[in-house]
Amino acid sequence: MADLTSARILVASNRGPVSFSSGPDGALTLKRGGGGLVSGLSAIDDPNAVWVCAALSEADRQAARQSPQGRLDRGGFDVGGQAVRMLDLDPEVFDQAYNGVANSTLWFLHHQLYNTPVAPAFDAEAAQRWQGFTAYNRAFAEALAAEAAPGAAVLVQDYHLSLVPELLRELRPDLRISYFLHIPWAPADYFRLLPEEQARAVLTGVLGADRAGFHTRRWALAFAECCAEVLDAEVDRTGLTVRHQGRTTRLGVHSLGADGEFLRERAHRPDVDERLAALRAAVGPRRTIVRVDRTELSKNIVRGLLAYRHLLRSRPEWRGKVVHVAFAYPSRQDLVEYRDYTAAVRRISEEINAEFATADWQPLILQVEDDFARSLAAYRLADVALVNPIRDGMNLVAKEVPVVSEAGCALVLSREAGAWAELAEDAIGINPYDVLGTADALHRALTMPADERTERTKRLAAAATALPPQQWFLDQLAALSS
Ligand code: G6P
Repeated sequence: MADLTSARILVASNRGPVSFSSGPDGALTLKRGGGGLVSGLSAIDDPNAVWVCAALSEADRQAARQSPQGRLDRGGFDVGGQAVRMLDLDPEVFDQAYNGVANSTLWFLHHQLYNTPVAPAFDAEAAQRWQGFTAYNRAFAEALAAEAAPGAAVLVQDYHLSLVPELLRELRPDLRISYFLHIPWAPADYFRLLPEEQARAVLTGVLGADRAGFHTRRWALAFAECCAEVLDAEVDRTGLTVRHQGRTTRLGVHSLGADGEFLRERAHRPDVDERLAALRAAVGPRRTIVRVDRTELSKNIVRGLLAYRHLLRSRPEWRGKVVHVAFAYPSRQDLVEYRDYTAAVRRISEEINAEFATADWQPLILQVEDDFARSLAAYRLADVALVNPIRDGMNLVAKEVPVVSEAGCALVLSREAGAWAELAEDAIGINPYDVLGTADALHRALTMPADERTERTKRLAAAATALPPQQWFLDQLAALSS
């Protein structure tokens, strides 16, 4: 077990690499998470690394309380070689921070999701939620300060922890701090929807870091622009630096790639084969359009379904010849906007099936349970993948499909996804708001000659795996040392 205050590398994120659930007898079961950060961290082999995260549920909080000093040491919960410390926060503070500010205000802001005639409204309740967000960020900063060895490297992740770099620097000026944003950064005109005090706090929060990383240059420049306009900071748009109050923060672009080696191996295990057989039986000899997302407002699932409906209406030759497989697993169901959106996705799916289904053809298969093996099976099968977010920091589905695809898969991709920056040459680009344009793109994708599809998929897979998670992680560490 790592000693307290001896960690030389620390990672902080809201969602950690493990979660707990409690059974009917109250026993806690641990589940490991996946994702880029988990595989990224597997690149470091340091017994003194610590991952600080929030307890997200009552079961997590119980687990955090049962372990010594709230820390789940390697003895019990070894995750790729580092200890995990779960913060047992007051549930109300956590709710204010996670649901109230991070996933409502900041997520909506950076993805430009507000319906501005009515939202946002920064009223007394919103001010209360902001207090909770500040307390939550402070709890992270304090935990990191308590764990870190002198001069340690701290890698702070994502919008939930926007205030942490500055708070941590105040507590521990000796640390090397980097911040990485996994989502887009709002353009300055939109960012200014935030009350000025909060806008300044978010910017100076991030600027507490030595390095701030983004998936694309576009998001890095948007951040720099906000610093110039809101803080009057000195910005070098070519060298990507921001100077404010005597300190310089260097901005970096680290475009997270797919983990090719892992995906290729994982996609051929028996559980995936089984699901592939079931999907093949359901789809029959028809073409398949696949999408896989959290049921998330920014993923633009509704317009994707409308585009598919328009394809079937306007090009009857596709009726009976194509199946749209949509995996849209639930997310953030504490938020009313997400519940409403999920209901809309279901409603439109039912309408499409009601309009077109025949005795032997179901035009749309919508599944809402999260099942990674089934997603991989769909990637293997897909003729076309539809990835049409309104805005997206990166979008790893767009990168995973070409890696796993068996016969070559045409990729219809939103130009507003971070992944577009690397995949533009071989994907079919769309404006995510343009339903008719998306329907045309689906048609183009479905009619792409087989050898062109295969060639494009090969090039897409190469671009998608250019910076695998392990290297992505090491690059950020290296950038902190330089
Ligand atoms: C995005 C964010 C992550 C977040 C994930 C899932 O990818 O960048 O920080 O963990 O969505 O959202 P959730 O609210 O379920 O953690």
